[in-house]
Amino acid sequence: MVEIIETVREMQEKADALRKSGVSIGFVPTMGALHEGHLSLIRGARSECRSVVVSIFVNPAQFAPGEDYKQYPRDFEGDCSKAETAGADIIFHPSVEEMYPPEASTVVKVQELSEVMCGRSRTGHFCGVASVVAKLFNITKPHRAYFGEKDYQQLVIVRKMARDLDMDLTVVGMPTIREEDGLAMSSRNAYLNPEERRAAVVLFRSLKDAGERVARGEKDAEAVIQGAREMIESEPYTSIDYVVVVDPETLQGIKEIVCPARMALAVKVGKPRLIDNIALHPPS
Ligand code: PAJ
Repeated sequence: MVEIIETVREMQEKADALRKSGVSIGFVPTMGALHEGHLSLIRGARSECRSVVVSIFVNPAQFAPGEDYKQYPRDFEGDCSKAETAGADIIFHPSVEEMYPPEASTVVKVQELSEVMCGRSRTGHFCGVASVVAKLFNITKPHRAYFGEKDYQQLVIVRKMARDLDMDLTVVGMPTIREEDGLAMSSRNAYLNPEERRAAVVLFRSLKDAGERVARGEKDAEAVIQGAREMIESEPYTSIDYVVVVDPETLQGIKEIVCPARMALAVKVGKPRLIDNIALHPPS
């Protein structure tokens, strides 16, 4: 049976005991509403670590006022059984009060990386993410922590934070899991009505097309971005937040695609704002 832990103290004691007995800890932080994307991270942790801890915590600090914190899908019972089937040993499920006592006043800010791409339209979001992930690392004490490439900017930021703050763990990036038609799995896909759901496929279609153009030798980032923008704009219900081609580590925009790069986009489809990204590989 999966063990459910709700307090910081109890989770830290458990992690200490596991470490003392030489057990490796794999950690998968989530906000619940688990789907195959999350489960692939849990399975990855299961295959590499002796003990697998999954956290389920909808983190208020990473939602801006007016975002979907209150409406964010929650299904704790369902999540527990999915996580257990995928290989979780422990579910860490703290309350907001447990994670954020009123006297707390420290935040973690990864500069520069947090200010581009999604950071532009979601002020404070990545500070909320980095702060909660730092806390979760200190609470669950993992050897390896698993993050999806679906949230590529988040993965890069967490990696940078771990390196900058000398956190003694490995951040593992895992591939994006997609629906059959290519739409990246996301808890927010549940907000799409059937027509928006059909239109949303254009996110992946435009990225895939860009990837193929670059593989065939297109070097001009602006041309690749323009092609994707036109494809997306030709679909109903879409409104582009950004489409960028960036250096995979610094997330700074690049003009000439002569080394592996990352293309990322954020698009509103109806009300929901969806993100996706793909690796770009120029011919060698
Ligand atoms: P959440 O959106 O629940 O995602 C938890 C983890 O699942 C993240 O690492 C995310 O990248 C990964 N994930 C989501 N969809 C995926 C997909 N289709 N394929 C592969 N991986 C996928 O990301 C968060 O929660 C939060 O910001 C968190 C890190 C938990 C901090 O609060």
